[in-house]
Order: sequence, then structure tokens, then C-alpha cells
Amino acid sequence: MSTPLNVRAEKVPADEGADPRAVPSLRLCDTDGATSDNVGDWIDRHRDELREELSASGAILFRGFPLTTPEDFDRFIQAFGFANFRYEESLSNAVRVVRTERVFSANEAPAEVQIHLHHEMAQTPVFPGKLFFFCEIAAETGGATPLCRSDLLFERLSQEVPQFAADCEQKGLKYTNVMPGDDDPSSGMGRRWQSTFSAESREDAERRMRELGYSWEWLDDGCLRATTPVLPAVWELGPGRKSFFNQLIAAACGWKDSRNDPSRAITFGDGGPLDHEAVLRAVELSQPFTFDVPWQAGDVALVDNMITMHARRPFTGTRKVWASLVAADATASHA
Ligand SMILES: [Fe+2]
Repeated sequence: MSTPLNVRAEKVPADEGADPRAVPSLRLCDTDGATSDNVGDWIDRHRDELREELSASGAILFRGFPLTTPEDFDRFIQAFGFANFRYEESLSNAVRVVRTERVFSANEAPAEVQIHLHHEMAQTPVFPGKLFFFCEIAAETGGATPLCRSDLLFERLSQEVPQFAADCEQKGLKYTNVMPGDDDPSSGMGRRWQSTFSAESREDAERRMRELGYSWEWLDDGCLRATTPVLPAVWELGPGRKSFFNQLIAAACGWKDSRNDPSRAITFGDGGPLDHEAVLRAVELSQPFTFDVPWQAGDVALVDNMITMHARRPFTGTRKVWASLVAADATASHA
């Protein structure tokens, strides 16, 4: 028998000093004995309203829904009817564990590593339009997922450092990454090149890179240095609304491992150097537009990847947060 869900739309209080527009929407389910079928029915009936809300707020947090396993999470995602974006086909740098067709671990980087704000896979030509996160086990301490309204950030950035904002918009960016020959779980960007390019051999990888417009260099130690074609740094969401759609903040703050030096990782599309001071200003300006999702077991966050950046705080204890990606909307366009 179908139990109608009792779901309330609630407002989460903003952190002190934060912009209230940066707080994600919240849907709180308070129904005894609800099943995943009931959840599917509820999503069916509210799909349009949720989509609309997502494009306004950039993220929705679902709490109290009857979800305990990654398989429950997979069914929850399916109910939305979005097109799946498979991790295996992505050019992501992160090492992850695939659990179901739609679900994989958010990032296998060690607990003490902070992953800084970024739009998912904005450093590659193939990126998802939306993301889901699911908390199976919350960390003992820390481990929040910060979400940043990138459209609000870009508006501020255009006022404070207009030349830099205009350069980003007009020139785009190129990203260079040194990928290992074997997965390196000690790094947030340790995915091996074979897996990144779905390649068995160097020839396969070269074919894929050629198709995607990359340039590359094989290094003596078996690593691959790959540079993307010019990618957008700013995304047009609608009239007068643009997001800072790139990896500049993550790169400036943390793209460092034994192979990669953040100061060499990104240039403007014309090969010119970035204004480092302006990038640091973007890091600073992102703070009031950032909200830390304080995970509880069973929570799901739906994030619009074109509007909102995400990150991961360091943590202690066991933390299991799963992710799923949604293919980008073919009608979207960049600035
Ligand atoms: Fe990410």
C-alpha cells in the first residue's frame, strides 16, 4: 500500500556572515514506515517543482527520507528520470570506487586531505550537468560538503576584479595535469591515465586525446602530461546570470601532489599566465557564498553543477559519501 509522504520545505539558517541566498533548499521527510516506492511516487509528483527550485537555489538537501544503502540511493536517483553520466566514461582525475551503475564513492582521497571548491570536471571537455551526493555514514568530526553559489561569486568577482573576470570569460582556460601510470590513492587527483582515457595502450590514449583536442607529452617515469583544449571559464546560465565554471579555486588551493605544481596547471586559453592575486581574491570572495552541508546518515544533496561548486572538508572517523552524476543538458551554453 502506498503511504503518502509528509515532506516539509524548510529554510536552513545561514552560517554567520554568509549570504542567505547561498543556503540550499531543504526537503524534510517525516513519515513513519515510508518505503523507497513511496519516495519514488513523491518524486514523480514533485519533479517539476524540484527542477525549478534547483535552478533557482543551485542545490536541494533531502533529509529524513528512507534511504540507508547505496542501492536505495540508486533508486532515489532513478525516480528523477535524469540521464546517467557514468564515471568510467568521464575524464575525472579522482580515484573512485564504483558501486552500482549510477553510484560511486565521492572521492577516495585520504581523510586529512581538503578538496577545495570546484565545478565537477570543469577541467575536462566532458562534465556532468548535475550531481547527487548521499551520506551513508557521517564522519565523526568534519567531513562536511561545502557548496558555493558560483553565480553569486561571479557577480561579485566582476565588480571587484572586472579585468580578470572579463579575461576568464573571453579567453577561457587550458588545464595541464600529470597523470600517473598506476592509481595513486594518496592524491585527490591520482587516477591513472589508462583509466582516465578508457585506454589499454598509449596509442589508445593518444587517439582519445586527439579526438578531444588535447596535447600531451609522455614522461620517462610512465606518467602522462596532458593539456586540454581551451575550455570555458564562465558559463552563461540565463540572461545576466553567469557562473565561475572552472577549477581555478581548487587548483590555487590544492592541486598539488608529487607530480603536479598548481602554479603551472592552468593558463588562459591563449597560453598567457593567470593573475594570481585575482585568483586568490576569488578564493576570498567565495567564502560568504559557501554553505557547509552538515551530513547526517540518509541525507541526499542534489547539486546543479553549472550553478554550484562543491568541496570536501577533512574529517576523522569513517565517512561514506556516495556520488552520482547526471549528463549535462544539451541545451545549456557557455559564455
Ligand atoms: Fe567533485
